[in-house]
Amino acid sequence: MKTPFKAVKVTDSIYWVGAIDWNIKDFHGYATDSGTTYNAYLVLADKITLVDTVKAPFRDEMISRIASVVDPKNISVIISNHSEMDHTGCLPEVINLIAPDHVYASKMGLKAIKNHFHSDCGITVVEDGSTVSLGDRDISFIETRMLHWPDSMFSYLPGESFLFSQDAFGMHLASCERFADEIDSFVLEFEGAKYFANILMPYSKFITKLLERIGALNLDIKHIAPDHGPVWRNAENIRHVVGLYKKWAEQKPAPKAVITYDTMWQSTDKMARAIADGLAGSGIQVKLMSLQSYHRSDIATELLDSGAFVVGSPTLNNNVFPTIADAMVYLKGLKPVNLIGAAFGSYGWSGESIKHLENMLDEMKVDRVVESVKCEYIPDNDTLESCNDLGKRIAEKLKQIC
Ligand code: FEO
Repeated sequence: MKTPFKAVKVTDSIYWVGAIDWNIKDFHGYATDSGTTYNAYLVLADKITLVDTVKAPFRDEMISRIASVVDPKNISVIISNHSEMDHTGCLPEVINLIAPDHVYASKMGLKAIKNHFHSDCGITVVEDGSTVSLGDRDISFIETRMLHWPDSMFSYLPGESFLFSQDAFGMHLASCERFADEIDSFVLEFEGAKYFANILMPYSKFITKLLERIGALNLDIKHIAPDHGPVWRNAENIRHVVGLYKKWAEQKPAPKAVITYDTMWQSTDKMARAIADGLAGSGIQVKLMSLQSYHRSDIATELLDSGAFVVGSPTLNNNVFPTIADAMVYLKGLKPVNLIGAAFGSYGWSGESIKHLENMLDEMKVDRVVESVKCEYIPDNDTLESCNDLGKRIAEKLKQIC
């Protein structure tokens, strides 16, 4: 068999056999400007094992990489750590092709796969904390429910101190570099934070508990192999990314404010700029993010290490601007915590946008510590001074909290 795509050696007996998706720019509403990878791993145990598979269109790329090391038909075991389609889209076809002796998944993994493919795919359920033998070594399973689906689990090879972490510790980053220590640390931290904010943030409490549990298990971990982005194999990098997960899951308020808005005739834009000036003049870091220039997923990323969220919209047809509705629904679902904030906006004659924004902030549990500012048509200097003052008062509150 010709193998135009080759496996990448991770350790003497573990290979990366995934696929690189350079072109995906939208991952269910998250702007993946840097593309992604779908990682699958081949373990050359006595019972040759494939950990996770790839999104359906990349099946042949994965099979080629496997075949560059072993005949795919020699695979005895497939493990599905996570049933989302970017990791199982080709699973039924791969099972048909390989005919493995065992396919393992969590109980909820079996349920999800059944509901996706209307077949149980011959899955054997593995329990949390259980171990199966691969002949010359064992592999253990740790359920990580709601990180980020009910089915999610880690697989761990104790003999090799090797953790397969499915989506956790991943990032959407297409690259030919397979290891984190080959990639600039700024890129790792930026893409890691963006991934955490847009995929994992709603489950922050579970992440804190999981990290405590992993700590209590005292697992020796020399490699973390996620299902997206690079493999972590350097002790310092592993400590750093685990520390970042602890920090991101806590979302402690920081002296930073995100101002998100849209504008019709630049009135709300002028108000946003005056609020930013009040915040910045009081020593608060500001991200001014017009929805005409920034994607909702960039706003989520900035909120991850912020303490304030200020949102503005003109009134359009008795409501907020559609872009604001889009962003606020998305952000509410991600459940950022520990934020204070306020609303602002211009209007012509009815001015309902402010009330809608206040309700949206309340639903997000953003503590509205300052009265909203609204402006009829075009802000004059008095109104802009009020906006600047709104920024200053948010800054004062934020400094008290941080
Ligand atoms: Fe990468 Fe939740 O799938």
